[in-house]
Amino acid sequence: MICSLSSPANSSTRCWAEPYRISERRLMAIISFSHVSKKYAGDITALSELSLDIREGELIFLAGASGAGKSTLLKLIAGIERPSGGMLQVSGQDMRKVNRTTLPFLRRKLGLILQQHRLLNDRNVLANVMMPLIVTGADSREAAQRAQVALERVGLADKASALPMMLSGGEQQRVSIARAIVHKPRIILADEPTANLDRDSGKLVTDMLAAFNAAGVTCVISTHDERLLQGADRVVHLSHGRVMAMQSAGSEVGA
Ligand SMILES: Nc1ncnc2c1ncn2[C@@H]1O[C@H](COP(=O)(O)OP(=O)(O)OP(=O)(O)O)[C@@H](O)[C@H]1O
Ligand SMILES: [Mg+2]
Repeated sequence: MICSLSSPANSSTRCWAEPYRISERRLMAIISFSHVSKKYAGDITALSELSLDIREGELIFLAGASGAGKSTLLKLIAGIERPSGGMLQVSGQDMRKVNRTTLPFLRRKLGLILQQHRLLNDRNVLANVMMPLIVTGADSREAAQRAQVALERVGLADKASALPMMLSGGEQQRVSIARAIVHKPRIILADEPTANLDRDSGKLVTDMLAAFNAAGVTCVISTHDERLLQGADRVVHLSHGRVMAMQSAGSEVGA
């Protein structure tokens, strides 16, 4: 079982396998997939009739072989891709109807740690972390202060003026986390956040995500890393775009 150690910023983390304190958590689904399909050009079916409810405050892992649909599921939640069929609601927003006006409001509730969202090397770490605030029109001085606080939360306050390329892979991923949480999102989406990290760096990153979850943030994390799945609150196993099994706090239920 993997338990979260105290992160550099938050010692009130909990063991990932600890049962929900239901009184502290709302039972309403914050993300709801109902018979959702996603087809890409070339008639490629990435998700097929997928139904899944994620409740506020949950920590969910998405597992499955390469091509199973994990990244596609995260992209649909983030509004990067649209469902081809079925109903998807994220924080009350019908994702079939999301548009240029409504997407920025939804994005303020989301923290994205996606593989293709690289850090920009033409600006320092602090400026990278400030970006989500700047694009939503925040005052640059306030954005800098909040970015500094976010860097402290991931233990990288002393790297604010460094360029991303001067950091290790694990440190860069922690900067990505700081950038994802700087605007205090309700939901964190992380696509293989420990890929290419050594064991210690991977553990630090996942402990941080667990710490944000312990503070009430809903986390949906895709991973190939078996070590992360042991003791997780809930694991959704995908295969060929479908939910094959769900595993929660020690039990396993076929889908
Ligand atoms: N932009 C795209 N255009 C066409 N097909 C795509 C696109 N993105 C993904 N696919 C296809 O959709 C399916 C699901 O891909 P997805 O990236 O969601 O899988 P994954 O579970 O994240 O895999 P991995 O573990 O390798 O990251 C695959 O067959 C993939 O080739
Ligand atoms: Mg993927």
